[in-house]
Amino acid sequence: MKNFKRTLVTTALPYANGPVHIGHLAGVYVPADIYVRYLRLKGEDVIMIGGSDEHGVPITIKAKAEGVTPQDIVDRYHKIIKDSFEELGISFDIYSRTTTDLHSETASEFFRRLYDKGEFVEKTSMQLYDEKANQFLADRYVTGECPHCHNLNAYGDQCEKCGTSLNATDLINPKSAITGNTPVLRETKHWYLPLDKWQEKLSHWILEEHKEWRPNVYGQCKSWLDLGLQPRAVSRDLDWGVPVPVEGAEGKVLYVWFDAPIGYISNTKELLPDTWEKYWKDPETRIINFIGKDNIVFHCIVFPAMLMAYGDNYQLPDNVPSNEFLNLEGDKISTSRNWAIWLHEYLRDLPGKQDVLRYVLTANAPEAKDNDFTWRDFQARNNSELVAILGNFVNRAIVLTHKYFNGVVPALGEIQDIDRAALDELATIKTALSENLDGFHFREALKEAMNIARLGNKYLQDAEPWKVAKTDMKRVETILNVALQICANIEVAFAPFLPFMAEKLAKILKITDNNWDMLGKSDIIAAGTQLEQPELLFEKIEDETIQYQLDRLERIKKENVIKNFKPEPVAETIDIETFAKADLRVGTVLDCQKVKKAKKLLQFSIDDGTGEPRTILSGIAEHYDPATLVGKQVVYIANLAPRTICGIVSNGMILSAVNADGSLTVISPSAQSTPGAKIG
Ligand code: MF3
Ligand code: ZN
Repeated sequence: MKNFKRTLVTTALPYANGPVHIGHLAGVYVPADIYVRYLRLKGEDVIMIGGSDEHGVPITIKAKAEGVTPQDIVDRYHKIIKDSFEELGISFDIYSRTTTDLHSETASEFFRRLYDKGEFVEKTSMQLYDEKANQFLADRYVTGECPHCHNLNAYGDQCEKCGTSLNATDLINPKSAITGNTPVLRETKHWYLPLDKWQEKLSHWILEEHKEWRPNVYGQCKSWLDLGLQPRAVSRDLDWGVPVPVEGAEGKVLYVWFDAPIGYISNTKELLPDTWEKYWKDPETRIINFIGKDNIVFHCIVFPAMLMAYGDNYQLPDNVPSNEFLNLEGDKISTSRNWAIWLHEYLRDLPGKQDVLRYVLTANAPEAKDNDFTWRDFQARNNSELVAILGNFVNRAIVLTHKYFNGVVPALGEIQDIDRAALDELATIKTALSENLDGFHFREALKEAMNIARLGNKYLQDAEPWKVAKTDMKRVETILNVALQICANIEVAFAPFLPFMAEKLAKILKITDNNWDMLGKSDIIAAGTQLEQPELLFEKIEDETIQYQLDRLERIKKENVIKNFKPEPVAETIDIETFAKADLRVGTVLDCQKVKKAKKLLQFSIDDGTGEPRTILSGIAEHYDPATLVGKQVVYIANLAPRTICGIVSNGMILSAVNADGSLTVISPSAQSTPGAKIG
């Protein structure tokens, strides 16, 4: 590894078109925060840069849909995102945004320099234009028929049915999403960054010099490079973004993926107006970009090409840790389907439980493969790990110290093998923990930290101070001193992961000056220190709390089914005579029973006005309690040929609606009608 003097940590700028969810947290912000807190504990020079990504088409679409300005949208979500990050303890040195003047100037200057150096190629192409709205249409703004699967509702950038990515000009029968008009093709000019020019340098830099990158990152880069890089447009016809600073470029803005990564630079400038350059241009700075897996190509190929094209000593990242995706209860997280746990809602619904979320997201981090978040696992990890292992050990050690020594830390006396073994293990854990953190293996690192608590529990179990207290108080002094040193190690080891717990514990143990060097040591707390009263570090999460969240998800699932319901295509046209052949009638339910041994069948006895009850079987047993149907009126087909099912003759068919979620609802007249009345 090269020598470095300082570290610049950036975290992908989340789009300010919605709040952040657990997928973002697990993928980027929690690991980045752990890493930065770790480096700070080691006393290193490190800054953590974040901010909202406030440009791009989705923001304009959302604004239009709500009838507000794009600025209104980003103001709203920037605040929600920023506040919720802060409450979760994500310790940015700056969290800014890409709609600041400083960012506009920085991005603009960046483009202009590349333009002046001749780093772009200009190309004209044909793009869809909406003559009614007087604007070019971003791919997302066009809908039409997918040329592959013929889904009629494909978007210009992607068909969500078959998953193919598209260009708007590929669509059959395209329509503008703004006006519904059929767009026309018009010529437009754009600036392209010729990535092919940087192919060789990028290949060498990634494939030769960065074999240590995570396999998912390295692999994605390799397949892009193997395909051969192509020029990429860095401008768009859009009225929301940083204007292209070139004459004749009216109505054009920088492509959001051109300006957003420059946001890392602008935000560093905003934080450190005088010294920002050393974090970007000194080869002794180490740059780490924490990102999601859909951002890999932009951070490993496009942005580095931009930096190389700019020159002026801009440094490339040393590592780009990227996670796979986190799913929620078995389904892909989706903002548009509201299938997510939103951070600001979590903080509202489970107040004071920031560390629980940080713990679960780290323990389940999708580092090497996609992973699943479930509320049951969340509960189990809280109750059987945080409460039962970590909280329990710390609490026991402190309570016993209060019980036997009024909370004064006893001195370490003569050491026995069992003490020596426990203390030695602390040093071993420290090495494993540090190595995992250095290598961005946060999940493993957390396991190591947890091993300290496991070690503590085992130590108390084996040393049995409550028994020894009957005969040898000197020995109890030593046992509790060791136990408290283990608690102090927990405080340091967990400080990057669970900062709220660590702070509470530090107060109780009177640890004021925290640093990574203390970890592994057996003399962190001095004998004679007066401890504070114990305080529960974690509390059990009850079933009701979890059920409330599961019910919410269940509701969302139902809403989605209804929202996405597309009625079946209408059947072939018939004439009135054909319809009239079906003899539809109203009847009153005299009796209704489940048919034995048939899961789906109900047997109706219907008053059809003839005085003779009519028997009809209907396959709705899974949707109705038969007793609730007695006395109701129904509609049935009276002249259907009789059928025998399960030995019962059914004379007709009762009509039901088949709903979006597959449920069936029986059709009834809107007011009391005459049994036997004909429908027509
Ligand atoms: N807004 C992008 C996303 O959420 C990430 C932008 S990262 C940056 O996928 F580098 F462009 F800032
Ligand atoms: Zn398709």
